[in-house]
Amino acid sequence: MDIATDLIDELRGRLHDWGYTLEGVRERLGPVAAAALAREEVVPALRETRDGDPLGALIRLWWLGVPVAAAELPLPVPRLVEAGLLVPEPAPNGAAATGDGGASGAGVRDAVRATVHLQPWETGGYLVSDRKVRPGDPPLRPDHVVGAGGASANLAQLIIRRPVERALDLGTGCGVQVLHLAERAAHVVATDVNPRALELARLSWRLSGVTDVDARQGPMFAPVEGELFDLIVSNPPFVISPGGGPSYRESAEEADGFCRDLVRLAPRHLAPGGHCQLLANWLHIEGEDWRDRVGGWLTATGLDGWVVQRDVQDPAEYVELWLRDSVEQGTPAYHARYDAWLEWLSSMKVTGIGFGWITLHDSGALDPVVRVEELTHPVELPVGAYVDDVLRAIGTAHRISDEELLAARLKVADGVLEERIGEPGAEHPTRIVLRQTSGLRRTTTVGTVEAALAGVCDGTLPLAPLLSAIAELTGYREEDGAVAEADAGAGGAAAGGGPESGESADGGAQPPPGATAAVRALIAEGFLTL
Ligand SMILES: C[S@@+](CC[C@H](N)C(=O)[O-])C[C@H]1O[C@@H](n2cnc3c(N)ncnc32)[C@H](O)[C@@H]1O
Repeated sequence: MDIATDLIDELRGRLHDWGYTLEGVRERLGPVAAAALAREEVVPALRETRDGDPLGALIRLWWLGVPVAAAELPLPVPRLVEAGLLVPEPAPNGAAATGDGGASGAGVRDAVRATVHLQPWETGGYLVSDRKVRPGDPPLRPDHVVGAGGASANLAQLIIRRPVERALDLGTGCGVQVLHLAERAAHVVATDVNPRALELARLSWRLSGVTDVDARQGPMFAPVEGELFDLIVSNPPFVISPGGGPSYRESAEEADGFCRDLVRLAPRHLAPGGHCQLLANWLHIEGEDWRDRVGGWLTATGLDGWVVQRDVQDPAEYVELWLRDSVEQGTPAYHARYDAWLEWLSSMKVTGIGFGWITLHDSGALDPVVRVEELTHPVELPVGAYVDDVLRAIGTAHRISDEELLAARLKVADGVLEERIGEPGAEHPTRIVLRQTSGLRRTTTVGTVEAALAGVCDGTLPLAPLLSAIAELTGYREEDGAVAEADAGAGGAAAGGGPESGESADGGAQPPPGATAAVRALIAEGFLTL
C-alpha cells in the first residue's frame, strides 16, 4: 500500500483526537465489553457502539471489522478508500447485510469496511494487521498477518529496558515489538519471511511515528547474515504441529525445531554483552526431563541462559488451544485434524508442551551458566525492568568462589518475607518459607540455618562468622541435613574441605556442610544479594 505521508499524519491525528487510544477504547466500551473483546468476543462491543458516535464508529470500523456508514466516521473516507485501507460496502439494505447479527444499528447506507485491523497499542502507537479469524469467516489467506495478542505483550514485558545500539526483531509480523524497541534502540532491524507482514508493519510504524526501521524479508537469520546485535527479540512461529497450519504461528521445522534453531543460531548474531530474548514452546517427552531438553539447547550455545516455563499443557489441551485459535471447532474437518495432531504427538511420545521464555546473554564468561526453572505464578511486570538483576544473580551464584562467598557481606533482598507454618501452638514450625514480594515473587522452603541466616544478613558481617555463629546457636549436626538438602541447582559446588565434626582446627564452629551451596541457591534466586 502506497500511502501518502500527509494521509498517514491526518489519520493518526484523527484517531488520536477522537480518543481511539487503548484507554479511550476501554472507557468507551466499559469493563464488560472490553473484557469480552479481549477474549475475541465482539457482540458486547457491537452492542455498546450502536449509537453512531465518532469513537464508537472508529471502534466498529478498525477493531470490530464491521461496515460503518461513511457519514459517521471522523475520517477522510474517500482518500482512505483510494489508498486501499477502506472499501465501499455493497450492502445498502440495512443491518441484515452487515453480518453482525443486527448489532450494527442504523446507518449502513454508503458504508465502508476496513481492509485491515487497526488497533491502538500500549506504547501509544498503532498496529496494522489482518483481523483475527472469527466463526463463519472464509479461510485465512496464506500470507495472513497476525495482530498483536497476549504472546506479543508477554514478550514486550520480558525485553530488557536498557538502551542499546542495535536491535533485531525476528518475525516482526505487524511490527509490534519494534514499537517497544524503538524506545530504547538507536538502530532497529525487523525481519519477516512474509513480505505482506513487512508491508503492514511499515504502516504500523508510520502511524506510530516510528521512523528509520530497517525492514528486511527472509527466513530466520538469513536477512542479517554477518551482522551483530546488542538485543535480539523474537515471538516466533512456535506452535508445534504436524504441519498444514497458518505460517504466522507454525514453521516448516519439525516439532520444536524452530525455537531450538533460533537459540542455536542466535550467538552468531549477538554482539559482546548482547541479549537474545524469545518466547518458545517445547516438548515434554516420556522418559526425558524437559529441563534437559531446553537446557541442552542453551548449553550448546556456550552463553549464559535463563529458561522459564510459564505453563504446560497436555497434548489434548494444546491441540484444542490452537484449533480454537484458528476457529476450527465445529468445522467438518475438526475431528480429523484433532485426531491427526494427537496421533502425531503420540508417535513422538509427547506427554506435554511447555510454554515459556528464553533469554541468552553473551556475558563473555568462560564458565557459562544456564538456569532452567518453572514459574507459573504471576510475576511483577515488566520483567524487563529487572531481568539484568536476575541474570546477574544467576551468574554470581555460579561464579563466586567459596572463599569469596564466605568473605562476602550478604544482604537479604528488599521485600523478602519469612513465613512460618506449623500446627497451632507448636513450638517449632514444620515449614519455613522465604517469599519475595516483588520481582519474580519466588518462594523457597528453607531449613533453620538458612532462615537464621536470612534473619541476620544485613550487609554488615561476612558470611563465614555468621554461618559459624548460626551453626553454634542452632546446634547444627550434620545428620540434621537441613542445609545440605537445600536446592544447589544454581550450579555452585558445595563448600568443600571443612572438618566433618562441625568444629574448626582452632576450635570455632565451622559453617555447616552444604551451607555455601544453600547460600548460592538463595543468591541465584535473588533472596540474598551481594
Ligand atoms: C507469532 S508471529 C509474531 C509477530 C510479532 N512479532 C508479535 O510479537 O506478535 C510470528 C511471525 O514470524 C514470521 N515467520 C514465520 N516463519 C518465519 C521464518 N522462518 N523466519 C522469519 N520469520 C518467520 C511470521 O510470518 C509471523 O509474522
